[in-house]
Amino acid sequence: LPTEAELLDGIERLRRERNAVILAHNYQRPEVQQIADFVGDSLGLARQAARTSADVIVFAGVHFMAESAAILNPGKTVLLPDLRAGCSLADTLTAQGVRDWKAANPGGLVVVYVNTTADVKAEADYCVTSGNAVQIVRSLPEGVPVLFAPDKYLAAHVARETGRPMDIWDGACHVHAAIRPEDVAAQQAAHPGAELLVHPECGCSTRVLRDVPDLQLYSTEGMVTRAQQSDAETFIVVTELGMVHRLEREVPGKAFVPVARTACCEYMKMITLENIHDSLRDLSGRVSVPEDVRVRALRPIERMIAIG
Ligand code: 13P
Ligand code: SF4
Repeated sequence: LPTEAELLDGIERLRRERNAVILAHNYQRPEVQQIADFVGDSLGLARQAARTSADVIVFAGVHFMAESAAILNPGKTVLLPDLRAGCSLADTLTAQGVRDWKAANPGGLVVVYVNTTADVKAEADYCVTSGNAVQIVRSLPEGVPVLFAPDKYLAAHVARETGRPMDIWDGACHVHAAIRPEDVAAQQAAHPGAELLVHPECGCSTRVLRDVPDLQLYSTEGMVTRAQQSDAETFIVVTELGMVHRLEREVPGKAFVPVARTACCEYMKMITLENIHDSLRDLSGRVSVPEDVRVRALRPIERMIAIG
């Protein structure tokens, strides 16, 4: 087996030879975040994918993110080093599900979270991320029904912020939905005065929101900005565990406490230095989207990138 140093050397050499860029989500393993050309949230990663001049995009993240990169870059090679890296939230919605929902709500605008398959995005009017969902829903014309999918907790946050009634799909992420208000309360008791950084996908957020009426919710990248700007010294990080590493790297001198060590996305952790190396070497794990789906999915993605 190669040592870590050999793997890192190999990745470096292959990255140059292939003219490749490595994009990593904030939930990736620390060693993967360290070798990435860019680390960020879903919105930031889509923006990087839209502007890269690389020939090969290695996506250290999950399948729907690599698909978005493929939709934005039809001429490029997009690699997901482990094709099993899916998403329980994206799995809750199919294209047929959206079509049936639209048929039952004629004239409605379909707003889907970025955590959806390309087939689903192709049926949507708007795509949003946690970083711009509120802004996009605010910009929609008045008096038109809004169908929001698939995350019911993000939807509750958007409805609360915008005051807009919405028809909401009953989907959730298994990692975030499992974070309980009791987990937040236990960390608050252990770290009095710590500031909460809560992701809108959290099931706990609706309960926590009730107790803290002016609580802000943040996309993963929003958490970095908030931690940099806040006067607080300690933060309770209410999202997936990998976020703690990103915050520690980006905001030295402050303390970041994970809400629960069990809040770990096994899909995100499927990407390793080994499979990044092998996919760069073999150009394996290619992700592509059929052209008819791609052109229809591009419109809502471009709207998402433009706003927020
Ligand atoms: P953001 O990084 O866009 O906040 O999304 C989190 C997430 O769960 C991605 O799967
Ligand atoms: Fe999907 Fe949840 Fe994992 Fe994000 S943390 S990739 S929403 S399963």
